[in-house]
Amino acid sequence: MNAYTHRLPSSTSAQPATAERSYRLRRQDASRILSSGFEPSPRVSPGQVLVRVAAASLNYRDLLTMQEPASESSALVPLSDCAGIVEAVGADVSQWKPSDRVSPNFFPEWTEGRFSAAYLGRALGGGQTDGVLRGQLVIEASALVAVPEHLSLAEAATLPCAGLTAWHALFERGRLKAGDTVLVQGTGGVALFGLQLASAAGARVIVTSSSDDKLARARALGAWQTINYRRTPDWDRVALDMTAGRGVDHILELGGPDTYERSINAVAPGGQIAQIGVLTGFGSQPNLLPLQFKNASINGICVGSVEQFQRLNRFMSEKQLHPVIDQSFGFEQVPEAYEHLRSAAHFGKLVIEL
Ligand SMILES: NC(=O)c1ccc[n+]([C@@H]2O[C@H](COP(=O)([O-])OP(=O)(O)OC[C@H]3O[C@@H](n4cnc5c(N)ncnc54)[C@H](OP(=O)(O)O)[C@@H]3O)[C@@H](O)[C@H]2O)c1
Repeated sequence: MNAYTHRLPSSTSAQPATAERSYRLRRQDASRILSSGFEPSPRVSPGQVLVRVAAASLNYRDLLTMQEPASESSALVPLSDCAGIVEAVGADVSQWKPSDRVSPNFFPEWTEGRFSAAYLGRALGGGQTDGVLRGQLVIEASALVAVPEHLSLAEAATLPCAGLTAWHALFERGRLKAGDTVLVQGTGGVALFGLQLASAAGARVIVTSSSDDKLARARALGAWQTINYRRTPDWDRVALDMTAGRGVDHILELGGPDTYERSINAVAPGGQIAQIGVLTGFGSQPNLLPLQFKNASINGICVGSVEQFQRLNRFMSEKQLHPVIDQSFGFEQVPEAYEHLRSAAHFGKLVIEL
């Protein structure tokens, strides 16, 4: 992947003392490329907080964003997830002070209650709103959560999308309880958070993966059972056997078209499928009829709110959980980090340390 450079506009092209490093996604042909450079330090307004970004993390979504058609005017800062230190607060901000350790929520405006479609366009680092891969970030004070004390900023940077999505699916909507069974697909970010959170709550977790090595690591992390989905394409049948024919109480549906029918086969009566991922593409058209005869549900999950993020962080602290970081990259190595994500060789999360 090529990385180009961008600069401040010509009137300020000499790098000022207040310039901050950043990446932007610029158009090249039909897709986007990464461009690194400098830009002016942002100003903080009333109600906002200036955060020094210490670490950011990558999600599968960031590969999808690279592929979206882009116009030159939409050279946005990529990535949704980061953690950092408060450097300054605007007027009227009383809940944060300089030196606080914080993370912004994926949806800055979704602070509590029900979701609104209006939040979608303001998701950080998507096709319409600047993200977090820059030295400093200005954001509404209400969009921030405190980083748990036991976590490093690199660890905390993995939580806003992958961690919160797994938490929302299993605990907020799924109402998971000890003894429940869970199935997660693969060993990427959402899947491993699902494994760690559910195991810590006393659930029994089945992990599928294309790699026996990764499955061994998943067992070391607490997986109850594992299935190699390459060698055993009918993993739904095996999951039914593992649960004595009953089926799985919670399935994190991450695959999409290639996995959906099997998730429906494998879910238990009264169980829940969390509709989350598109790893094998878009537009799943499974036969939903079996759900009716199982009184089972599909919950659409799109990351989560600030108050859900706070509850996730309380749980992480209570259970002293540490996210699984596969590899950390420096700011200059961002293109390599994207390539590593694309290779799907990772186990857990990829972090950029600023
Ligand atoms: N709805 C939401 O709010 C939300 C939030 C976060 C993520 N997502 C979506 O959830 C999915 C996972 O995201 P992520 O960031 O955790 O991804 P990731 O870290 O990039 O995970 C990639 C892993 O997925 C596994 N995988 C690929 N194809 C698979 C298949 N057919 N069956 C089972 N596992 C498969 C592979 O694991 P192995 O190498 O072990 O085989 C691969 O390494 C993506 O589609 C993403 O867009 C949605």
